[in-house]
Amino acid sequence: MTSPAAARRRVRAPRLARSPQAPNAPNAPKIAARRSASPLSAPGPITVADFESLARARMERAAFDYYAGGADDELTLEANARAFDELWLRPRVLVDVSEPDTSVTLFGDQLSTPILLAPAALHRLAHPEGERAVARAAARAGTVMVVSTIATYSLEEVAAASQGPRWFQLYLYRDRGVSAAMVHRAEAAGYRALVLTVDTPRLGTRRRDRRNAFQLPDHVRLANFDEATLPSTNFSGSSQERTLTGSARILLNDALTWRDVEWLRRLTRMPVLVKGILTAEDAKLALEHGAHGIVVSNHGGRQLDGAMPTVRALPEVVEAAAGRIPVLLDGGVRRGTDVLRSLALGAAAVLVGRPYLWGLAADGEAGVSRVLEILRDELTAAMVLSGRPTIASVDRTLIAGPDRAR
Ligand SMILES: Cc1cc2nc3c(=O)[nH]c(=O)nc-3n(C[C@H](O)[C@H](O)[C@H](O)COP(=O)(O)O)c2cc1C
Repeated sequence: MTSPAAARRRVRAPRLARSPQAPNAPNAPKIAARRSASPLSAPGPITVADFESLARARMERAAFDYYAGGADDELTLEANARAFDELWLRPRVLVDVSEPDTSVTLFGDQLSTPILLAPAALHRLAHPEGERAVARAAARAGTVMVVSTIATYSLEEVAAASQGPRWFQLYLYRDRGVSAAMVHRAEAAGYRALVLTVDTPRLGTRRRDRRNAFQLPDHVRLANFDEATLPSTNFSGSSQERTLTGSARILLNDALTWRDVEWLRRLTRMPVLVKGILTAEDAKLALEHGAHGIVVSNHGGRQLDGAMPTVRALPEVVEAAAGRIPVLLDGGVRRGTDVLRSLALGAAAVLVGRPYLWGLAADGEAGVSRVLEILRDELTAAMVLSGRPTIASVDRTLIAGPDRAR
């Protein structure tokens, strides 16, 4: 048995006062000399991968592993990113690309970039300002933050932090009343869409968390739940109950069907996107049951290990959706060219998860802003260099090989 005190020692608050380690070895002495400077000072991190190195250096091991890890052997986690490398691009030349435009319109909102922030639990593991810092950075970047149900500030607190467009991610729980109450709260707080996550009848097996005996640290609370709904995670419970698996067991519903999606649609005026679809069959069912959008996702490789990488699943889902509803993608997007490839295969937009969590751990709101800036700059460069000045001009002919449209 582990004592609560020992459990607390295992995952402490992020060591924000500590200076970061160098993202790459050759720069180490220079960066060490600037210990008091911001981790973003020049030359600073210039890629998402650099931010991952910074986050690894700044976070407690168990917290970093909770963010970074996937299910089982992490095959899908790795494949998500690698699958992008297997898609080669067919750039066009002598196109006027002097005014590249990355803007897109989704559910009536014009966004300055097609890169959205995926719902991710427990932002306060990375930074005390948690979801509030992320909401401000998303608003500044002119994009959507999808706020997780498992947030560490309440959905109202996140709404109060910024004026930017926000969507709310929902699980449908065993107790429908719990979900319905959250939907009404999200509506009242001005959220613009609901993202129903459907790939989580139970939590995937995260071996890193088991090895680290990961538990919620004291300063982290699941702020969207009250004591009555979720007593164990709001800290009256024993150390064993203070695990995410414990709360998932209480809440998650493994008997959900498409009928529940219809129930949700009737409950709200907000558009409902279904997140966690990987097949044409399910895309067709999503259409039949009235979904307003689809997110092709395998939960960042955290659920079914061996599930296909999302960019490989995308073409069949896009074909099944037949342009009737927008199809978004997340999983493994780490570079502007990954965004470009996804758009070329028919995604209306992408979402990133871990990249902005690394930014948050590295330097709070400024870190998230910088990550979003890097990705957008890389996307712009890729559009210019491939002769595609607008998002509308990014089409399937940009992709070489078997995944290319005939
Ligand atoms: C630490 C972490 C927590 C997550 N929490 C949630 C969640 O609460 N709800 C949800 O629908 N998806 C959650 N996801 C999945 C993300 O929404 C998204 O599908 C995934 O992170 C995309 O892959 P990427 O991290 O490679 O960009 C989480 C992902 C991570 C990494």
